[in-house]
Formats: sequence, C-alpha cells, structure tokens
Amino acid sequence: MAERLDKFLASQGEGSRKDVGKWIRGGRVTVNGVPVRDPGSKVEPESDVVEVEGRPVSYQKHVYVMMHKPKGVLSATEDARASTVLDLLPEELRRRGLFPAGRLDKDTTGLLLLTDDGALAHRMLAPKSHVYKLYRAQLDAPLTREDCQAFREGISWGEERYAPARLSWEEGNPRIGLVEIHEGRFHQVKRMFQAVGKQVLELERLRIGGLELDPALREGQYRQLEDAEISQIFTQQNTRKQK
Ligand code: URA
Repeated sequence: MAERLDKFLASQGEGSRKDVGKWIRGGRVTVNGVPVRDPGSKVEPESDVVEVEGRPVSYQKHVYVMMHKPKGVLSATEDARASTVLDLLPEELRRRGLFPAGRLDKDTTGLLLLTDDGALAHRMLAPKSHVYKLYRAQLDAPLTREDCQAFREGISWGEERYAPARLSWEEGNPRIGLVEIHEGRFHQVKRMFQAVGKQVLELERLRIGGLELDPALREGQYRQLEDAEISQIFTQQNTRKQK
C-alpha cells in the first residue's frame, strides 16, 4: 500500500518525521533513482527503491527483537521513574514503536520479545494459542513429585485458578524448577510455586514456544530475529519429561 515518503522513512527507523522531511527537501532522498523533494509524495514500500544519500533503505514491515532482559528494568514502553526495556534499545529501534510482547517482572531475567507487530503479539500471548513459555526457577526448597502432580492438575492461588502446567526439575537439582505455562497472568509462576509452599528466589524465562533464548546474548543484550525464528515461536518443543 502506498505511503507518504516521510512517514515511510520514519517508520523504518531512519530518523524523526522532521529530520527525514529536511533530508527529502534537501534532495538527499531518491525514489527509483530520482530525487524526490516532496515529503508527502507517495511510495510503494514493497516495490520502490528508496535511497538516502545513495544508501538503499531495506523495507521491513515489522521488527522483532529478542532481548535477554536483565534484572531491575520494567517490561514497559515508558515509566516516569524506572528504566524500561525500551531504554536498552537504540534510537532507531525505539522510533519504530516497539513494545514488549508480554511482561516479565522487574526482577525476572531472560527471553523477552519486542515488536511492533500487534497481531503477532496477540497470537503469541492468547492462552488459546497454547504457546508454552518455559521458566527456570531457583527455589528455597526442593521440589517433590507431588508438586509436579499438583501443577499437572492445575494450581489454585486465592481466587485464581491456573491452567494445568508442566513441572520438572533440573537433573540432580530439585531446587531448580522447570515450568511451562501457556498463560501469562500476573506473578503467575511465583504464585504457583507459593501455592505448593515454595519461594521463587530467581526466575528466568528460557523459551517461548519453540524459540529459545540465544545463549550468546548476555543480560541487557538484544538482536533482531530471523524470519525462521519468528515461526519457531509457534512450533512447540515438548521434549522434557514430566517427573
Ligand atoms: N511469572 C512470574 O511470576 N513472573 C514473571 O516475570 C513471569 C512469570
């Protein structure tokens, strides 16, 4: 669909609407090799070749970022007092209007996706999509087979009733719980463990659907996703055995 040239350039993270308007009027932008000086002229993002000072602008309809969320930052787009995951991204990505697809608590680390694709975020988060998220929880007491059974049957916490979840523990270490849930309710993992008498000391998200946190990313680092990785979100990997 045809779009205004200035809006197109801004949406691709090239600069603010004001900046790109200046470049266009200054003759620094070409469309199919021809300088275009009207910021309101129309381009077809899928087929026109737009260049800024001879550098082609590669068109991406949406952006998908995998972040290794560190502790102490909010999964929000802005906050008056605390820093947010958006603050960890460079200006050109922030300008694209990314938002975190789902929340992790301030003290939770691990895999967080940021995108400007509302439809994908909705599909990924809707409980009926059954996209399981895998968490690794360090606990204050060892897990038992009864805990795994309770998770399998569905945990209640106060008024809340959570859908059945898969729980196991790390080989040789029953204080490290591995839990998979397909809902994303407030403090859900912490509350589920609390319901079986365990306190979560550290919580990390390792996987969403079939997409794993890239081990090369250290806390606070991010990278864009490849197309194939985006489809992995919707490919489940239910390979772990239940206790
Ligand atoms: N469950 C929690 O309790 N916290 C998170 O950050 C994510 C899931």
